[in-house]
Amino acid sequence: MKAAFIRQTGTPDVIEYGELATPEPGPTEVLVKVGAVSVNPIDTYIRSGMIKVATSFPYIIGCDLAGTVERVGSQATRFKTGDRVWGSNQSLFGRRGSFAEYAAVDEKWLYPIPAQMLDAQAAAGALTGITAHLGLHLNAGLKPGEVVFVNGGAGGVGSAVIQLAKAAGAKVIATVGNSDKKALCESWGADCVIDYHSPTLDDEIKAFTAANGGLQVWYETQVPTNFDRTIGLMSPRGRIIVMAGRNARPEFPNGAFYVKDLRLFGFAMFNATPEEQRACAEAINSLAAQGTWKPQVGRTLPLAEAAAAHRLQEENTLQKQGTLTGKIVLVP
Ligand SMILES: NC(=O)c1ccc[n+]([C@@H]2O[C@H](COP(=O)([O-])OP(=O)(O)OC[C@H]3O[C@@H](n4cnc5c(N)ncnc54)[C@H](OP(=O)(O)O)[C@@H]3O)[C@@H](O)[C@H]2O)c1
Repeated sequence: MKAAFIRQTGTPDVIEYGELATPEPGPTEVLVKVGAVSVNPIDTYIRSGMIKVATSFPYIIGCDLAGTVERVGSQATRFKTGDRVWGSNQSLFGRRGSFAEYAAVDEKWLYPIPAQMLDAQAAAGALTGITAHLGLHLNAGLKPGEVVFVNGGAGGVGSAVIQLAKAAGAKVIATVGNSDKKALCESWGADCVIDYHSPTLDDEIKAFTAANGGLQVWYETQVPTNFDRTIGLMSPRGRIIVMAGRNARPEFPNGAFYVKDLRLFGFAMFNATPEEQRACAEAINSLAAQGTWKPQVGRTLPLAEAAAAHRLQEENTLQKQGTLTGKIVLVP
């Protein structure tokens, strides 16, 4: 089969595209004929060696996938040949990556694709959807009517946070880099969308929260978290989610934090158990069936262009060029 893989960590140029053996599904695995995969920032950290996960080579890259079940292992019971499935969490903890024509994936990491969803959409919303759900629900315990602020609302995670928070009955404030992205966030139901370049950004946040019962949940997707600013804007008993910036060491105003009875949650989606991730996936799937979960595909490329896809992801997530709206999807 054709696959995108690396023989060493490094820049996007280390990604090769070529022939590797098609995997045989183990007893609890499902062989998926991959229809689409998507790129996540973590893929670039693994490829670069910043996260030391790629230790045996050739190493197939990629966490997310969507496709059709080709064959099931002897003890796999959840799916049958021909079912359409999506999943995430591959290429981690010794698991093979997803960027290939075929992927053998343990059925515990796979979920059915709702009938009306394309493979590209299912792949685009895989890791980001589960991440947004874990942050809002398992960690922050979001309640209907609360106000959620998400920094970077048009990003992979941010776009999922907006849609899932709205589906949970929250009011959402989001930041974006331009007017097209503002319109997109509004189309997902965001109540207040502000350009993060605005000199009156915090005044606009304060005006919205003053009129809407405060600010209960801060979902930070940016690095580093500015805790002085965040804590200043939060309501008492608010919850702050931090899930980006491995090497960031921001200052932390101890007193301002505890006198407001605030709570701080940090998490990495790949630490969530298969059961926790499945609960997120099922919730997301039912929103997709209702038409309220629409992962945004920003760029579609052939899998052979995986190196270019990694460059584009880095230009946006790390260098903040703002040239991407939605996820990068690759098609084998
Ligand atoms: N802990 C976990 O489990 C987990 C899971 C997924 C991702 N992450 C991490 O979360 C971060 C975001 O991931 P992602 O996939 O959402 O990345 P992404 O798709 O590249 O999105 C990044 C967003 O940042 C926004 N942005 C850039 N400059 C900004 C600024 N000054 N203020 C506010 N927003 C700004 C961009 O907005 P515009 O496009 O509008 O310019 C873009 O939408 C990454 O660091 C990633 O590694 C962690």
